[in-house]
Amino acid sequence: MSSSQLESVARDIVAPGKGILAADESGGTIEKRFKSIHVESTEERRRFYRETLFTTPGVEEFISGVILFDETIRQTSADGTPFPELLAGKGIHPGIKVDKGAKALTGFPDEKITEGLDGLRERLAEYVKLGAKFTKWRAVITIGHAMPTSFCIDANAHALARYAALSQEAGLVPIVEPEVLMDGTHTIERCEQVTEWTLKRVYMALHDQRVRLEGTLLKPNMVLSGKECEEQAHVEQVALATVRCLRNSVPATVPGIVFLSGGQTDEAATEHLNAMNAIGNHPWELSFSYGRALQAPALKAWGGKEARRSAAQKAHLHRAKMNGVARYGTYSSEMEKELVIV
Ligand code: 13P
Repeated sequence: MSSSQLESVARDIVAPGKGILAADESGGTIEKRFKSIHVESTEERRRFYRETLFTTPGVEEFISGVILFDETIRQTSADGTPFPELLAGKGIHPGIKVDKGAKALTGFPDEKITEGLDGLRERLAEYVKLGAKFTKWRAVITIGHAMPTSFCIDANAHALARYAALSQEAGLVPIVEPEVLMDGTHTIERCEQVTEWTLKRVYMALHDQRVRLEGTLLKPNMVLSGKECEEQAHVEQVALATVRCLRNSVPATVPGIVFLSGGQTDEAATEHLNAMNAIGNHPWELSFSYGRALQAPALKAWGGKEARRSAAQKAHLHRAKMNGVARYGTYSSEMEKELVIV
């Protein structure tokens, strides 16, 4: 695929009013999510739940891409349609998480390195055959005492760039995800400093490895106070700090920035995105690629019961719509009242 074709897929994913549903939870993570609603994780239940999200009537108005997990990209809907085909039929780009998870970084206690480069070229070729159009790789950066180290940032930046270059070689748009975790007692200022440092090193590595930025998307954390910080920044502060941080570190040729929700409540994730878009005049599209913040209400409404499928879909459509509205900076909490689930 030429670089202009990669760019056109990337731009389509960040089309106005739309964003990404991250439904790429690994086996362990989906088990945790199901446990929160007291449901046992079986292959059929995972398939049913994901089918519920993907077949939500009208969701394609607000969702332009879905990130799948290796198991999910091989599953089908009840009528036998492969999920990638089902999504593509609704005009939604199927994507795939290709990293093998964040593991302990030897010699650097409490820091992580994401694995999955070995055999990646061959796996990407298979995902192309299965219908994927884009990929995702998540690196994890932890803020704490004497952390992050520059070694941890650079090791993860190097792996992200290796992954991004291989994805483009395969004709897939890489979503580059360096997540600075919100866990900890740190201030919003510290989060901004670490996020800017990380992003600058990531863009240096992408440059060194000849990745075409026009054919990529960035999936960063927002700049927030640590979860256990006593003084929590308010919405406007988060929006201003995040936009400033991104302007200082993300080249304007990147078509879009698709935030992760990272443990924020669903409404906070919507409000923050909305406030950033209300500032306006950004060189890139500011969009969402939420996992928990998009799925939490649907998961709860479903509760593992087949008969609750349409309630789950209503909740899913509502959340997707709220975030779609936040893309224009015109969301208000009053709109939350539109949702009535029986
Ligand atoms: P959250 O929005 O739940 O952080 O998930 C997004 C994601 O894909 C993390 O890799």
